[in-house]
Order: sequence, then C-alpha cells, then structure tokens
Amino acid sequence: MSGSERSSMLSVRGLDGWYGSAQALFGVDLEVGVGEVVGLLGRNGAGKSSTFNAIMNLELRSSGEIFVAGRSVAKRTADQIARAGVAWVPEDRRIFSNLTVRENLDLARFACGDREPVGVDELLDSLPLLDKLINRKGNQLSGGEQQLVAIARALVPRPALLLLDEPTEGLAPLIVEGIADAIARLPELFDVTIVLAEQNLPFVTSLTSRVYVLETGRVVHAGPTADFAADAELQDRYLSVSVA
Ligand SMILES: Nc1ncnc2c1ncn2[C@@H]1O[C@H](COP(=O)(O)OP(=O)(O)O)[C@@H](O)[C@H]1O
Ligand SMILES: [Mg+2]
Repeated sequence: MSGSERSSMLSVRGLDGWYGSAQALFGVDLEVGVGEVVGLLGRNGAGKSSTFNAIMNLELRSSGEIFVAGRSVAKRTADQIARAGVAWVPEDRRIFSNLTVRENLDLARFACGDREPVGVDELLDSLPLLDKLINRKGNQLSGGEQQLVAIARALVPRPALLLLDEPTEGLAPLIVEGIADAIARLPELFDVTIVLAEQNLPFVTSLTSRVYVLETGRVVHAGPTADFAADAELQDRYLSVSVA
C-alpha cells in the first residue's frame, strides 16, 4: 500500500532549512501514511538529520509546511511537537550515563502530556532484550544496547510517529540484526509510524516499503524500496559504498 492510499501521518511540503546563513534543506517533500515504515536515505551530510531537526523545530531555522496526522505543527516548539505525538531518537542516542535504564525510561514519562505512558512492563514484554539491561547504568551499555534503550524511551509517551536517526550507525552486523527485529515489530505492537534515516541499505530494505533519497538537502529520488534496492546505478550515485 502506498502512502497516498492511507490517511496521512506525516506530510512535509516545501521544507527549507538554514543553519545561520547556510541553507541545508531545499524544498523537501515527504508523505508518510499511517502505519508505514519509510526510509530516508543519503550519504553523510545529505540532510537526513537536518530534516528531523526541522520537523522537531530544533537547531535550524526552517520554513515550509509540516502536518502530523493532519494537524500543522510548523513553528511549534519541540515540546509541543512531541506532545502532538512525534518522538525522535537522535543520532547520538543521548542516554543518561549515570542513570539506570529504568530511570532513563522513567524520565520519559514527563514528555507524555495527557497520554498514559507505556509502562516498563509493557516495554519489557515487547522488547525482551531490554530485560537484562533494565538495572544497568547508561555508561554500562554497548552501542546497540544504547540504541535499544533510546528506542524504548522514545516509545514511552505512545508516539504516533517515530523518527529514528541512523540507528545502526557504528553497530556490528549481528547487533544490527537484533535492532532490525525490534524495529520491525514496533508498528504492530505500538501502533506507530516510522521514518528511518539510514545509510545502511540492507537494513532499510528489510524494514521499509518506500524510500526517499536525499542529496545536498534535496529529495533526489522517491519510490518503492525494492526498486531502489535493485538499481545499482542509483545507489552508486546517492549512497556511499558499503564497508560492511
Ligand atoms: N549544527 C549545524 N550547523 C551548521 N551546519 C550543519 C549543522 N548540522 C548539519 N549541518 C550541515 O547541514 C548539511 C546536512 O547535514 P545533516 O543533516 O547532518 O546530514 P546527514 O544527517 O544526512 O548526514 C551538511 O552540509 C552539514 O554540514
Ligand atoms: Mg545525520
């Protein structure tokens, strides 16, 4: 099913973004339907994180239209955007190193607004790998474990839309598999729509139905993941050669 046949979860139109006077985004358009998992691909510096920054209204100045579940969130504060149902897992994961995993999850309850938070038990049921981590401190977690905790924390406020920024960055292939399995189950378990910024094409291919490809802050390709995955020339043009 394509985005146009479902009701809209995220609609971004004509998004421009600037860091100071340097323009980083140029007319980005994205359409993501309820329940979809969509990839946002592109090399380092292509504009993936900037797109998420602009959606969250953080770090860069932007203009354009952004609708979440049909409601305009452009110009709202990051806090208001979170309360509108958007959760963001930044590239650097930002787990509190001196707090336990349980404490990290508890802190996310403050972002819930009026919604009933997802409890730790429900998270443990849904993400069984969390179980052995729950009493560890942030600084006792591997990169993959941090990523899992960051995703779990993002789910606490029951987001409708989850923005995942390069969850596989720096992770060993075996760990990536575990993260992929966890992400694959989220739409059904948590009723959440996902935009997955990545450079890891096999990972994106295993999880998404459609991709947008960015280069120098512009969408340069959009279409079914299978088509992009089968097109070596497009990959060569817009992605770095995989070192995995
Ligand atoms: N905080 C920032 N200040 C200034 N320029 C930035 C900042 N963050 C990113 N950029 C620039 O914006 C462009 C897009 O970067 P980014 O969105 O981080 O790409 P990606 O996430 O795809 O690697 C790059 O040219 C990058 O140098
Ligand atoms: Mg980035």
